[in-house]
Order: sequence, then structure tokens, then C-alpha cells
Amino acid sequence: MSGRIPVAGPSITDREVAFVLEAVRHGWYDQANAFQERFEQAMAKHVGLPYAVSLPSCTSALHLALLALRVGPGDEVIVPDLTWIGSAAPITYVGATPVFCDVDPVTLCLTPQAVEACVTPRTRAVISVDLYGAMPDYAALRALLWPKGIALIEDAAEAIGSTRDGVPAGGWGDLSVFSFHGSKTVTTGEGGMLLLRDPSLHATVLTLREHGRVPGGRLFWNEQVGFKYRMNGISAALGLAQLGRLGELVALRRQLWTWYRARLEPHGLAVNPEPPGLFNSVWMVTTLLPDLPKETMIRWLIAEGIDSRPVFYPLSALPAFEAWPSAQQARQRNRVAAQVSAGGINLPTAPVLSEAQVDRVCARLLTGLSTLRRKAA
Ligand SMILES: Cc1ncc(COP(=O)(O)O)c(C=O)c1O
Repeated sequence: MSGRIPVAGPSITDREVAFVLEAVRHGWYDQANAFQERFEQAMAKHVGLPYAVSLPSCTSALHLALLALRVGPGDEVIVPDLTWIGSAAPITYVGATPVFCDVDPVTLCLTPQAVEACVTPRTRAVISVDLYGAMPDYAALRALLWPKGIALIEDAAEAIGSTRDGVPAGGWGDLSVFSFHGSKTVTTGEGGMLLLRDPSLHATVLTLREHGRVPGGRLFWNEQVGFKYRMNGISAALGLAQLGRLGELVALRRQLWTWYRARLEPHGLAVNPEPPGLFNSVWMVTTLLPDLPKETMIRWLIAEGIDSRPVFYPLSALPAFEAWPSAQQARQRNRVAAQVSAGGINLPTAPVLSEAQVDRVCARLLTGLSTLRRKAA
């Protein structure tokens, strides 16, 4: 590693190397799907949902979730305004309208009140994001959505290892999705997983993943036009090895979080909260600078050899969505998303960092805060 302090990345041990080598050597012929099946079974067990489908990304998992639910043109899907575009783009792939909802100032996740304000007779689903490892009050969200027949899709891309009221991230949705991108707590390089409760939705997803061929059915016989959305065995082997270390991987992140809290909270900078009922796997350590634009601090840290990231821009403010009428309404309504985004930064949370490196990040951040504030005054 160079002298720079990286913002995100994996923890790789001999276990991962051994699993991947095994897949490269033996994951062919009658073993071509062995690691994918083992990884799917392990994820289903971890999350507590009966079906798991491994995929090339979390974005493709959301795409298939919406297709399986038959969400399409004329339908609305509620999504937090403050999230990565991967949570919302699939809504447009199926021709539906994303409705950008405001978030809670503490968890940065949806609240039942904010969701209720966005529900219309056209609402078919809510994609609820477990942002940076935090999770919303899912019992309350379910109580709002289920009587209305609105599907709850849990986007747990960033939250593997978190729990809310004792239920693992991904365990609350009717359908749930995970990302195994290289920055995530569990990685496959690139990859994703869709978890489901309903056997017929599961069967639909398996067919859509195989170019519209019913798995096990006639070879080269496609019932419909589908997608090429399979995970490869080498990636699955890496994911399976990582999942076996989940407790350790979460502990590494929580150790970083503890070091950051001890250094930043005495200076009035709160880092990822853990309200009652939440066990936070802290995908990215996040702090909100009360009176400084995040870009100014990010530039300061870059000059100090430290990489950081901006908290997501509200989706409704991005050029990708700004012309949508639903984005125009969201920009008027979503005060919390706008405010949190303005001063929010993610601090280095790579699991390979040492306490001395966290020390350096915090020292440079605090010096930067006082210097930059003085300059702005
Ligand atoms: C909240 C959230 N949803 C969806 C995605 C999309 O995941 P992927 O890159 O695996 O498609 C990400 C990825 O970073 C994410 O953070």
C-alpha cells in the first residue's frame, strides 16, 4: 500500500486465496455451479430468508426484484433521496417512476412518516436502504406498507452484519438485496444477491437470470427474453470465504468506529449512531461537518494524503434525475437529505487501517476544521 490512507477496500486472508484457488482448479464441469450454490445457501441461512439468487451486482438484483413484482410503467416506487444511484436506477429500467423520499437525520434511513407522505395509489413498492450500515425502524415500516399491499424491498447493499431488533440486515424485506462490490464488508470483486420469501417470485427470478430459460428445462429453449445475470464460481468462492469471516470483518469495522468516536465526539463531531435496537456494522464511518461544505474538507484531506468520500448527493439533485417532476417535488420537500449531504463525509474505513492511521486522519480533520473555518470567517 502507498503512504496514502485509503477510504475503502477489503480484508483478504489465506482463506480467501484458498477458496478462489479451489474454484479456479475445480469449479468446472459438474462442479460449475458448486460455489454459487454454497454461497447462496450460506446467505439464505445468514439472513433467514428461504431463497437466495447470486447475481453479478446489487443493481441487477434490484432490477430482477422489480421485474418479478411486475412493477412497470405507471407505477411509482419510493426510494430514499440520500443513497447511491444503484438503489434507484433499476426503477427506471422497468419504466416506473422513482419517488425520492426524505430521510431521518440520525439514521439517514427512511422514516414511516416520510414514506407515508410519498405514498399514492400508484405506489407499488418501497426500496428501503440500510445506509452505511444503519437500519430504519422496519417494524413500523412494515406496519405502514403491508396493509396497503405495498412491497418492501430492503436494499442491504451496505449493511451485511447489521441487525435491527435482532433481525439481520436483509431479513426485513419481502425481497432483499446485497452488494459485494470491492468496497463492501463482504466482497466478491463485483457481485450481488437477491433474497426472497415467495417461491413463485423465486422461480420467476431464476428464469429471468438465465435469458428466459427455465432452469433445468429444455436446453437453448427460451420462454421469454431475459437477462444474462449469473455470478461466476470464482467470485462466489471469494464471497463464501468472506462470509465465513463476517463476524471478524464487522469487528474490524466496529474497532475503527470506536477509535473514530473516541477522537471526534469530544469535538462535537458525531459519527454513525447506534440508536436502541440497532447493531451497526458501520460500512463507512460517516460524520457531518456542521458548517463546512464537504468538498472543502475532502480537498484538504487529499492534500494530507488521506482519501475520503462525500456523503451521497440527493438523487433528486443529480443531472440524471433533475428533470423528472418527482425530483423537482423532492427538491422542495427533502430538507434533511439536502442538509446532511451538504456537510457529510465518509472517513477512511478500510479494514486494514491501524489505530495510528485513524489518529492521523482525526488529527488532520480537526486541524482542517479549525483552519478552514477561520479562512471562511
Ligand atoms: C445502497 C446501495 N444500493 C445499491 C448499490 C449497487 O450495488 P452494485 O454496485 O453491486 O450494483 C450500492 C453500491 O454501492 C449501494 O451502496
